[in-house]
Amino acid sequence: MSAFDLTPLLDLLPELLAGRPLVVLTGAGVSAESGLPTFRGPGGMWEGNRPEDLATPEAFARDPETVWRFYAWRLEKLRAASPNEGHRALARMERLLPRMTIVTQNVDGLHAAAGSRNVLELHGTLLVARCTDCESRFPAPEGPIPPLPRCRVCGAALRPDVVWFGEALSPATWSAASSAAEECAVFFVVGTSSVVAPASSLALLAARSGAYVFEINPEKTPIAPLAAGVFRARAAEVLPAIAAALQRGAA
Ligand code: OAD
Repeated sequence: MSAFDLTPLLDLLPELLAGRPLVVLTGAGVSAESGLPTFRGPGGMWEGNRPEDLATPEAFARDPETVWRFYAWRLEKLRAASPNEGHRALARMERLLPRMTIVTQNVDGLHAAAGSRNVLELHGTLLVARCTDCESRFPAPEGPIPPLPRCRVCGAALRPDVVWFGEALSPATWSAASSAAEECAVFFVVGTSSVVAPASSLALLAARSGAYVFEINPEKTPIAPLAAGVFRARAAEVLPAIAAALQRGAA
């Protein structure tokens, strides 16, 4: 017998949605089964590393080589990774539903690689480097660091096109994500520790606007009290079951 029982959700989901929008907020846990490490917890990227030394504008100004080496290491892992069953199930769900938005904190591009189209990348993307001066964007560097990547337009330093701690999210992306949270009927929170704002506030916004919030995460998080249902299981285990139920409903 499974450690979680999806039956009530699977029975109810078509009625809860009834043609209305679904939003899925994802975090690093969704990509864990593609072999990409999460941030927090044992083996996470922040174990033995301080975010303020690797993921802030101040760290980049002080020591761009260390920061770029961290991102080059993550890019190398990403280039060897592919979408897992969880990413693929979300892409199938989008094709079955009239309106579905993925709001992701991940910078790995694996939702798009799996075939999802309506994806809002709250924290930017690892796959692009951005000029610190003229804002031109280029594919992320492939070679080793150093040398530090430089802009081919103006010669200034390039940086990863991600959102660092202390920086604002893109206003357009945030506005689209918060509107989607306010308008949805069902909001899934998948594979995130829900401790980094403002992404962590979206589930509350959705719940206050009347959405049913469901969480999929093997570990306990601060979301549980506002969730209508909690599945303590892996994304690549639960999401294919949800996609299959929606498929049966659509057949
Ligand atoms: P975290 O590392 O904080 O949390 C990952 C979550 O995934 C944890 O709650 C795990 O229990 C869960 N998890 C692990 N394996 C899973 C699986 N197979 N299926 C489902 N869940 C699983 O990562 P995020 O919440 O994404 O920001 O972190 C949020 C932000 O903090 C990141 O975007 C990044 C980080 O610092 C910046 O770098 C700005």
